[in-house]
Amino acid sequence: TAPQIRRLLVHSHQLKQQTLPWLEPQGALSRKKAAKLRLPSQSLFNKTVALLFSKRSTRTRLAAETSSSLLGGNALFLGREDIQLGVNESARDSARVIGGMCDGIFARVGEHEEIEELAKWSPVPVLNALSSLWHPTQILADLLTLHEHAHLFNGTKAPEDPKLGQVTSLPDLRPLTVAYVGDSANVLHDMLVSFPRLGHQLRIASPEQYRAPKAVWDRVVELECDKSIWWGADPKEAVHGADVVVTDTWISMGQEAEKAERLQAFKGYQVTEQLCKEGGANPDWKFMHCLPRKADEVDDEVFYGPRSLVFPEADNRKWTTMAVFDLLFGKWDLTGEVHAP
Ligand code: CP
Ligand code: NVA
Repeated sequence: TAPQIRRLLVHSHQLKQQTLPWLEPQGALSRKKAAKLRLPSQSLFNKTVALLFSKRSTRTRLAAETSSSLLGGNALFLGREDIQLGVNESARDSARVIGGMCDGIFARVGEHEEIEELAKWSPVPVLNALSSLWHPTQILADLLTLHEHAHLFNGTKAPEDPKLGQVTSLPDLRPLTVAYVGDSANVLHDMLVSFPRLGHQLRIASPEQYRAPKAVWDRVVELECDKSIWWGADPKEAVHGADVVVTDTWISMGQEAEKAERLQAFKGYQVTEQLCKEGGANPDWKFMHCLPRKADEVDDEVFYGPRSLVFPEADNRKWTTMAVFDLLFGKWDLTGEVHAP
């Protein structure tokens, strides 16, 4: 729900504010500030999270491993080549065995049904680290990044020191117009079911044949998010009035065989200064991308330019993953209760 998303964002922000100073040289802190700081939660102490990844990952894996360590626990990376799953063992048996020795499973899978099957049989919580349909932990990082850059949209002064700001408060963000130009894939699908619930409008451009599958759109309608979504085929129309422009790769992992036809279908969808100017984006528009990025979908001028929030967005994968692990794996108990902060 929207309040749960907000609570997770606030919790991520708090963990980040508490933890960052510990990672910096002592000299960077005044005594007064240091006295106010607390160690991050150690809710994963003596616990192990299984990272069950059947696809490549840089950010999601790093976020999971580094945040588990900060929470006092251990992350165990189990890649496709390492374990019996899918070759000699079923998802049902693997989920039961891994869940019997670990305290949580963070799984990156191919078809979405695979993670549903793991969740059905696992005795511990299973969290989606990306599937064919959804990428929920990415969207938490995107929303946190937008909140932390609220001053850029609200026309207010930047916080004095974003790392040592108010521990308890997450800046308010005005309702934004967010344009997404590109493929209807897992990252967009989670934007569809979260951004409207937080008051933002979505304007999407994708070729006719690359629209959200029925399972995703049914969920969008069920959550009444469709009322805040405009969807067309013209990228210029989509960026009209946009405060933020977002894209993702045109060729998601597993779609490599479709490369030639996809490059053809997405011609004209590259995010550039010119596209956004001609389309009438807000002159101060900002750019986001989950990464990894190819120059096909966004040129270097935008990607490495002053509008780009892509690297703070990538960094925020850590703090948001940490908040979810803290709640779901660290503070979860056998009654199935999650103890919110
Ligand atoms: N954004 C994202 O999920 O990146 P990785 O595939 O590198 O984890
Ligand atoms: N849509 C992309 C996201 C990568 C983080 C993919 O699934 O490959």
